[in-house]
Amino acid sequence: MAIWKTKTGFKLDTRNTSYLMETKEKYLLHTYYGAYISDESAQDVICTHYYNFNSYPGYDWSSPSFALNSLPWEYGTCGVADYRVPPIRVRQADGSTVIDPHYEGAELFDGIPDLEGLPFPYADDGERVQTLEVTLVDPATQIAVILGYTVFEQKDVIVRYTKVENRSQATVTLEKVHSLQMDFNRNNYDFIHLYGDWAKERQIERIPLHQGSQGFSSRRGSTGHGNAPFFALCDHDATETSGDAYGFHLMYSGCHQTEIETDLHGTTRCVMGIHADHFAWKLEPGAAFTTPAALLTFSDHGIGEMSRRFHTFIRDNICPKQWRTAKRPILINNWEATYFNFNEEKLLGIAKRASELGIEMLVMDDGWFGHRTDDHSSLGDWYEDRSRLPLGVPHLAQEVEKLGMKFGIWMEPEMISPDSDLYRAHPDYAIHIPGRVGSLGRHQLVLDFSRKEVVDCIYEMMEKILSTAPISYLKWDMNRSLTEMFSISLPADRQGEFAHRYVLGVYDLMHRVVTRFPRLLLENCSGGGGRFDTGMLRYSPQIWTSDDTDASERVKIQYGTSIAFPVSCMGAHVSACPNHQTNRTTSFDTRAKIAMNGTFGYELDVNKLSQAEQDAIPAQCAFYRTHAELINRGDLHRLQTPFGTSEFGAWAYVSQDKKEILLFAYRCLGHSEPTDLYVKLPADPALRYECDGVKVCGDTLSKAGVRLVFGSGDHLALCRYYKAK
Ligand code: GLA
Repeated sequence: MAIWKTKTGFKLDTRNTSYLMETKEKYLLHTYYGAYISDESAQDVICTHYYNFNSYPGYDWSSPSFALNSLPWEYGTCGVADYRVPPIRVRQADGSTVIDPHYEGAELFDGIPDLEGLPFPYADDGERVQTLEVTLVDPATQIAVILGYTVFEQKDVIVRYTKVENRSQATVTLEKVHSLQMDFNRNNYDFIHLYGDWAKERQIERIPLHQGSQGFSSRRGSTGHGNAPFFALCDHDATETSGDAYGFHLMYSGCHQTEIETDLHGTTRCVMGIHADHFAWKLEPGAAFTTPAALLTFSDHGIGEMSRRFHTFIRDNICPKQWRTAKRPILINNWEATYFNFNEEKLLGIAKRASELGIEMLVMDDGWFGHRTDDHSSLGDWYEDRSRLPLGVPHLAQEVEKLGMKFGIWMEPEMISPDSDLYRAHPDYAIHIPGRVGSLGRHQLVLDFSRKEVVDCIYEMMEKILSTAPISYLKWDMNRSLTEMFSISLPADRQGEFAHRYVLGVYDLMHRVVTRFPRLLLENCSGGGGRFDTGMLRYSPQIWTSDDTDASERVKIQYGTSIAFPVSCMGAHVSACPNHQTNRTTSFDTRAKIAMNGTFGYELDVNKLSQAEQDAIPAQCAFYRTHAELINRGDLHRLQTPFGTSEFGAWAYVSQDKKEILLFAYRCLGHSEPTDLYVKLPADPALRYECDGVKVCGDTLSKAGVRLVFGSGDHLALCRYYKAK
């Protein structure tokens, strides 16, 4: 059993972790989360008697020493005597925002909850999953806060969510409801988060928590390039293989917010959820609101194990089941090959040569629809441009299939160009505030997906194109952030609901598309990796990691992404040189070795490659196909960070039985007098491995390590495969 009712509260157990919450007076305290413990209670580790000067008012008149401001709460109060960042704020009809929920009861059930329109992890075949819902009620306002905990025992992951029910007779407005609060009775942690920008997504920052507030957010209406909805806290001296590390994901693709606060009592509070800045949800009597899910894991074997727990969970409990082990096609995408300058003949020319070289799918990127010759028009007109494709998309798709390849297309379903038939017919479908000139981004506007008729209209167009042609893959792009957030269909007192309703509309459309076309492989994209989150991954098992396809930059982007996400969901392609983003030249071999650390593909015109480069492709494809299972489902071990002053980066994929190890390494700059570079491999000391005909003990690989011989030159990658006999 994973969830226990104890004498004083509840205990959630996974294979390697325990989570304890206990009632004290009428409150629900968070007493422990960490490595598995057998004890039922951890109340003793909580200090309830902090010095209680009158600026720290106590719990109530009868227990003045019960200091609200320093106890670890399972979910905080607001406006009472806890002055730390609150996870919730509810505005009553009289204008007050105080909420002080008391423990009322709990319910335990098998399986997962229904978060109504929000993505949620699913239970693996035969996997037992339990959910606990603990109800807290504010006696004065009758607002109920229901804390949900779904325990994936075998995966060491707990999924939290929060439901607010209005049990009063009056209408209230939720101004903030976060999915998760996590209080710690320590504040000496390092804080790891993944920040970035367009073409520089998910860089790693690791900094000690400082006194006061810190955090990150997105106010863009979507996840954004700036901050992934993920963070970790770890011991100051935690490494990839040692120390305590906590990881948190928000399973959401809209505005998000994470606030972390430390104080002088040595405590830390973290709250994570929908950003309060673009949120105000009106709750009528009897109505309820449910937050997105937040995923939690813990490892006392370092940051690497924390990542791997999330990798397994994302692969096996989040990404669509049909793609878990299914082979992803090696694709060639025409974006960087042609940009908008293509027609059927050109695409078939690329496909023909690509198929001869072993590439398995052609993806037709932006520009096939409406009259789109550049990025100024046609978004929303999801029917082919006959001047480019005189015989239509179905004909092109069939021609590609005749070459033995699959066919995929690009769409940007949430967008509308002012120069489009859709806009001319329905200008009101675009997000806008009447009387205000809206902001353009990449010459386009965003559709109001909070309106069902708008989502229906786009679905119908998508359904038509996807059902009339043999389309195996869809690249779903989203190339601008939201502005002037407003819906003409919402009343004034519900405009604060817009941003979240937009995200629900996106999820609804994705759900409809993947349900109608279960074999369609969806690859998400948002100006590269601007919407890389576990919400999107519930519909699309892979996401285009970044528009920056330069191998050297990609090492960092993919290494950073791996802190939170598995390699199996990172779109990665070999592109032309000099690279279109950085103007850097790297060898064809380096580009391929780096792109193999993801869902491998090409993004160039194969006909323009040198003969030697073309000749290399069959072997690259064959190598990837041979090792795809190990790369995508093996355990990833980060061995050497490429960030900071590091001279090189290294990582390895290890099979469950440790009999196979695939090592990759990348060195940025060469030297006239090269120094030897080594890494220790996560090998089984008891096994004997062989690599390129040389036999070596696992003991040696894991203790002495292996020497990385890059040869001379800059931007070089190497790859070595070790197999135990
Ligand atoms: C975005 C994507 C690119 C490409 C273009 C097309 O920038 O990230 O890969 O699809 O849009 O306009």
